Amino acid sequence: MKELRFPEHFLWGAATAAYQIEGAARDDGRAPSIWDTFSRTPGKVYQGHTGDVACDHYYRYADDVALMAELGLRAYRFSVAWPRIQPDGTGPANPRGLDFYDRLTDTLLDRGIDPIVTLYHWDLPQALGDRGGWTNRDTAEHFATYATAVYARLGDRIDVWTTLNEPWCSAYLGYANGVHAPGERDAAAAFTAVHHLLLGHGLAARALRAAGARSVGVTLNPADVRPADPQSAADAAAVRLVDGLHNRIFLDPLLAGGYPDDVREHVSRIVEPTFIRDGDEKLIAAPIDLLGINYYAPSYVAGRPDGAGNDAYPGTEGAVHFLPPAGPLTDMGWMIEPAGLTRLLERIAADYPGVPLLITENGAAFPDKAGADSPDGPAQVIDTDRIAYLDGHLRAAHEAISRGVDLRGYLVWSFLDNFEWAEGYRKRFGIVHVDYLTQRRTPKASARWYQEVISRNGL
Ligand code: FCB
Repeated sequence: MKELRFPEHFLWGAATAAYQIEGAARDDGRAPSIWDTFSRTPGKVYQGHTGDVACDHYYRYADDVALMAELGLRAYRFSVAWPRIQPDGTGPANPRGLDFYDRLTDTLLDRGIDPIVTLYHWDLPQALGDRGGWTNRDTAEHFATYATAVYARLGDRIDVWTTLNEPWCSAYLGYANGVHAPGERDAAAAFTAVHHLLLGHGLAARALRAAGARSVGVTLNPADVRPADPQSAADAAAVRLVDGLHNRIFLDPLLAGGYPDDVREHVSRIVEPTFIRDGDEKLIAAPIDLLGINYYAPSYVAGRPDGAGNDAYPGTEGAVHFLPPAGPLTDMGWMIEPAGLTRLLERIAADYPGVPLLITENGAAFPDKAGADSPDGPAQVIDTDRIAYLDGHLRAAHEAISRGVDLRGYLVWSFLDNFEWAEGYRKRFGIVHVDYLTQRRTPKASARWYQEVISRNGL
């Protein structure tokens, strides 16, 4: 295969999220989040798994950072757990919660690894969940206060700040199809949450800037939505609808000044959008410095009056048929289509020019087969399918760069195997294997491969 070089200063790293790895769920003043509650609700998470212990990263962070350094990572994207900082979601910051991220930040910097912070990766304080969560406009205001508190402690050492991770998931999986916390099934609530999440981003971004933050951004999981039949006008209309609900409902307010008319009209058929107030769109559209892109798989749709639609896309019933994933799949049942990443990056760069992009997540779950097992963990994990996935997607990213996309870096999901939300611990995304009984870490073959990629700055 062709040898590829990435641009100088291309940022190589890995990503995780607080609830998925930290554990220590009741320590140092942390209060429950909506994910603690959800994972304790029977039937919501695979085999009742919770984040109580997870990868015990809260106590093992120093060893974990040492391993990151050994692998040559230049950047590490982690999220801050809001319920550690403000256990009730409001009020004064809990210094012990901040201390943890302070130690983590210093340890990363000592090892020459750039910290990239996500302020919200889904673990809303339950106290705010009790007051309606993201359906309550106040949550957006509280989010900005929380962001300010984290910045006040870490802003002197952290350059890159991102507000939300994948608000699509928070809003639609949390409030429309109920697969994620808080597990509601109410389309009107989901659209309300979309707006309040965007508003939360806008308020937090403004607060971070006022406090002096140099780089402020947000991470989306834009979808590469494809027509089942590229010649079909009905399929093109289905693409437009799903693209509106998944992509443009976030991208347009953030990067093009406001909600698109077709999306507004669609939403209005489900809920009167009185939650959009004067000035909101202007605030949300304030320029950002970086757009984080999480990409895993494309989705294929057809326009059909008998289409069942999809609960995660309110209003698509009777209009859209979502094709079942086909071809090689990951352990999540997701399609493997690297070309989708090239298309997505090019499309965003073309439709929303001027904002640098960073791949904040990309990776795959596979049922890793351990090599010769020792009592405290596998001696080796030869995950060739993950290497192939990462290799394909890095080539796809490189292709986008060669076509002119301003892509600044790539963060693999994930550094460690971890709590994969509704799937619990049974899906393994890490380049480092975690034995959950002993907490032993074993770099997989993909980790060694990635180490080599980073050191050569290419493939
Ligand atoms: C993304 C999430 C991340 C992880 C990956 C597999 O949607 O941001 O936490 O679960 O999917």
